[in-house]
Parts: sequence; structure tokens; C-alpha cells
Amino acid sequence: MSKSVIITGASAGIGKALAYEFAARGYNLGLTARRHSLLETIQADLQKLYSGQSIQVCIETLDVMDQDAVFSVIPKLDQDLGGVGIVIANAGIALRRPVGSHEFEKDHHTIATNLLGAMATIESAVRIFKERGEGGQIVGISSVAGFRGLPRYAAYSASKAALSNYLDAIYHELRPFNIRITNINPGFIDTDINDRSKNEWYVSSVEYGAVLMVDIIEHRWKSAVVPWMPWWFIGTLLRLVPGWLFGRLLKG
Ligand SMILES: NC(=O)c1ccc[n+]([C@@H]2O[C@H](COP(=O)([O-])OP(=O)(O)OC[C@H]3O[C@@H](n4cnc5c(N)ncnc54)[C@H](OP(=O)(O)O)[C@@H]3O)[C@@H](O)[C@H]2O)c1
Repeated sequence: MSKSVIITGASAGIGKALAYEFAARGYNLGLTARRHSLLETIQADLQKLYSGQSIQVCIETLDVMDQDAVFSVIPKLDQDLGGVGIVIANAGIALRRPVGSHEFEKDHHTIATNLLGAMATIESAVRIFKERGEGGQIVGISSVAGFRGLPRYAAYSASKAALSNYLDAIYHELRPFNIRITNINPGFIDTDINDRSKNEWYVSSVEYGAVLMVDIIEHRWKSAVVPWMPWWFIGTLLRLVPGWLFGRLLKG
């Protein structure tokens, strides 16, 4: 099996930064997203950056809400790469929606992308790894927002809490097949998803976040928050703080 990784949602943000970090560490890449032109630009740039080395960069258009497409594109990339070792379910959206605001399609879109899209990606990867019988690694990009339901982002929080539970369940199920599961919970990373918070002290650069995430993936950790501080501390508080205090903190 080659040293290679498939990443969904690789046209921007964390997925794109992971692609650059994996390329710098000598991995072959299978990159997917809906915006093909962005993938083409990344492919050309990486091939220029690493022209002296034989790094393979394969790209495929993929909307993870389209299950049939997921079940054909992931195996195609696996074949093109000569056997993938790591599959990262990263594609995601965060739509703000006060509950009852007559825009339920936003919640539907969020669950279809962040949860069902990730589950389809993972299902496809597990089939490949089980058939090959050589193990592998699956990474889910979840979120600290899944630790506690966040007002106005209820569907987002729910999608990430569900994804984390799903990853936890299959971690145990897939151990006998030597398929490792890694659940990464970013705090705030500077990408388009949270451009409202751009210059806040708690926002990390996407390049720094990608270095930490690839370290975690290479060490095959079961789960992690990124960056560790302050998000381990905030994540623990989010889980432990009583409801009445949580409500006050949100108001304050
Ligand atoms: N940034 C943070 O602070 C943060 C914190 C916690 C968790 N996360 C998670 O990290 C992941 C990446 O987010 P990001 O911050 O990098 O956001 P981003 O910059 O908006 O990038 C999102 C990526 O997902 C892709 N995507 C969205 N919907 C898709 C779909 N239906 N099918 C395929 N690809 C789709 C986008 O590509 P196309 O539009 O080209 O399809 C894009 O490449 C998400 O799962 C997010 O929830 C981010």
C-alpha cells in the first residue's frame, strides 16, 4: 500500500491545508470537493511545488450529499493511487439558523453534509480496507461544537456530536480489522466557515492547525482537540458546566 491519503472537502480551508501538509510529508493525494476549478489550481500548484519528487495528486469532483457518487469516487481514487492508506471525512458546512426560523432546509443540508456525507465516505473507505485486508486509517473531522449543543447552531452541534458517537462506535468495531479511527475536534481555525471570528485571540491559522492534525493522524491517535490549548480546557468546561451556568455564560 502506498503512502497516500484521500481528503473530502479539499478545495478550501482545513481540507486544502491538510493536502499541502501531507504533500510536504511525501504523501500521494486524492482530493475531492464540488468546486473542480479550485481543485485544479491546487493540483497544479502542488505539482509545481514538488516537481522534483514523484508526488501523485489526483482530483475528483464530489458532492458528499450524493451517496452514489461517494461510493464510486472513493474507490476510483483508491485505484488511481494504487491503494489508499488514509481516508479523511472532512467536508462540512456550518449554517447559522435560529430554530423555528422557517429555514429548515439549512438544517437538512447540514445533517446531509456533515453527518450522512461523512458516514458515506467512511462506509466507502471501510469497504475498501476490509476487502484488501491490510487495515487502514479513517479520520473524521468533528468539532468542539459537538461537545455541547450551541444555540443558533443546533443542527451543526448535533451533526458533530453524532459524528463523534459514530466514530467512537466503529473504533471498537473495526479494531479487529486493523482499521484505525481518528476523531479530530478542531476549536476555531481561520477558514471561511468562521470568518466572523477572524481576528479573535482563540482563532488559529489553518496552516498551524493542519500541522497539528497531520501529526495526530500520523501518530494514529483515537481522538484529539486542535489546538490542544485552549480547546482542551474549553471543551472540558463545555462538557461539565451545569446548564444554568452555561445559559448565563452565553448571555454574558
Ligand atoms: N474552521 C473551524 O474552525 C472548524 C472547527 C471545527 C470543525 N471544523 C470542520 O472542519 C471541516 C472543514 O471546514 P473548514 O473550516 O475548512 O471550512 P471551509 O473552509 O468552508 O471548507 C469546507 C470544505 O468542505 C467542502 N464541502 C462543503 N460542502 C460539501 C459537499 N456537500 N460535498 C463536498 N464537499 C463539500 C468545501 O468544498 P466545495 O464547496 O468546493 O464543495 C470546502 O472544501 C468541516 O467539517 C468543519 O465542520 C472546522
